Amino acid sequence: MAGNDAPSSGGLVGPIPTTVSLASCPALEAKSILPPVRVFRSTSVENLNSTPKDRAYWRAKSLRRLFSMREPEEDLEGSARLPIVEESIECLRRNDYGGYTIPAHNLYPFQWNWDSAIVAAGWAVFDEARAWEEFEKLFSGQWEDGMVPSIIFHRPSTSYFPGPEIWGSPAAPSESTGITQPPVASVSARFLFEHTEHAELAEEQMADLFPKLLASHRWWYKARDPEKKGIVAILHPWESGMDNSPAWDAALQFPVDNLPPYERKDLQHVNACMRPTKETYDHYLTLLYRFKAENYYDSNKLYWVSPFRMTDLCTNSILFRANRDLRWLAIKLGKTDVVAEIDEWLERGFEGFKQLWDEDAGLFKCQDQLTGKLDDAATSAAFLPLFAGVASKEQAAKLAENLKQWLDKVPFGVPSTDPRDPRFEPLRYWRGPVWIIINWMIFNGLRHYGYDDLAQRIYDDSVALTSNAGLREYFDPQTGDGAGGELFSWTAAMCLAWLDRPSAIAIGHKMSGPKIHLDQEVSPPK
Ligand code: GLC
Repeated sequence: MAGNDAPSSGGLVGPIPTTVSLASCPALEAKSILPPVRVFRSTSVENLNSTPKDRAYWRAKSLRRLFSMREPEEDLEGSARLPIVEESIECLRRNDYGGYTIPAHNLYPFQWNWDSAIVAAGWAVFDEARAWEEFEKLFSGQWEDGMVPSIIFHRPSTSYFPGPEIWGSPAAPSESTGITQPPVASVSARFLFEHTEHAELAEEQMADLFPKLLASHRWWYKARDPEKKGIVAILHPWESGMDNSPAWDAALQFPVDNLPPYERKDLQHVNACMRPTKETYDHYLTLLYRFKAENYYDSNKLYWVSPFRMTDLCTNSILFRANRDLRWLAIKLGKTDVVAEIDEWLERGFEGFKQLWDEDAGLFKCQDQLTGKLDDAATSAAFLPLFAGVASKEQAAKLAENLKQWLDKVPFGVPSTDPRDPRFEPLRYWRGPVWIIINWMIFNGLRHYGYDDLAQRIYDDSVALTSNAGLREYFDPQTGDGAGGELFSWTAAMCLAWLDRPSAIAIGHKMSGPKIHLDQEVSPPK
């Protein structure tokens, strides 16, 4: 048990990792890598005949399912991935702090926004009621203005900085951060609702959740696009979820303030060569203290005063997709009065995305809203407009071409930064390592546009990485080594919901009774 922070692990045995990855990074030895395992049967390519509406490809196409619905595995015992499926279930249970799942012990001891939304899809494979609880807890931290904070501090912990006493004060610790994270919630809530096996539960949960989801999308447009550009701003690198991406380097050049002395806790858990530098942290904290000075993170003010204001591709792609999923939910729930409002977000978003396309590079780019410049960094977020379904067919073709070139440079994709860029660092957080959640989004986007072979390559790489290195936070694209936190919740959720869905569902059958037959058409609750 890890100190005061950890609740009961529900009777599961085995140590919870306390200190991880202290090997010196340059000395990490390349391990022999398991050959990629091909277990996914690719489905037929969608008809991509061009239409006059090509430019508005997204309007004409419905999105691919988040996870391909394959048959449950029959020969469970013979499956080489069985141990990782079992470990993934155990990992979520261990990281369950009572209705919410922490990303990893010690390193991240609270509820994180987009982690939870993704982790819910993992829980849903074997415990739907628990999956809905993840949303309940997340939205219990929603602010009155609709913002869903990046972190909810449900209970104290001493293993993370900056914690509640920094976001608030030692005398009045805050219940959450004052910033947000990519809005994945509507995407995974739709998935849960659409593929539920417990229609009554899903209807009850969604009746409660839908207005909260809607309020959070409205917040994004009110607080982060007050000038109605069609794309929303992030005001802190932490809001992107890709904290130290090279796409923020240029925008983080503002002078840092005179900060109170602080001690980072992340370096007690993970080697410094994998984490953001001190200089970057000084900028993170400068932003935090400046936002706090604005009447404790007043959303109406921050947009106008922040020295960091970026159009982030990750956030905007996820929001675009989330709008499409929220629209789907609105129609299913008979809330047709809000459809026009969502359509307007989508129309404006489509226009907004056009400014982010770099024709010469054949990539989307993040944009500094304060200078108007597209940032030159090519990061894995560049491929996420495929997940949104906002790219045109021509843009998708160029993205696929670019992605192939990236993948040819490293044995395991998708690196978070173009491996040919001098800023590429294979082990440092969002500057090179592979993140399985991003692989999943790119995989889904590629399939949406019909690039099944490339999608398959990413799927195979993800299977090989997790087979070889386990449920790590992220992975070295050059060696396949795992890095960062261990027994990481969203990596486990991706094994359950995506990479190993058939085995996980088969195990889920055993654990919580029979599930639906996946060869049958799945109809959403009425
Ligand atoms: C790091 C990641 C962020 C994630 C959090 C918890 O801060 O950059 O995306 O949400 O860890 O896993």
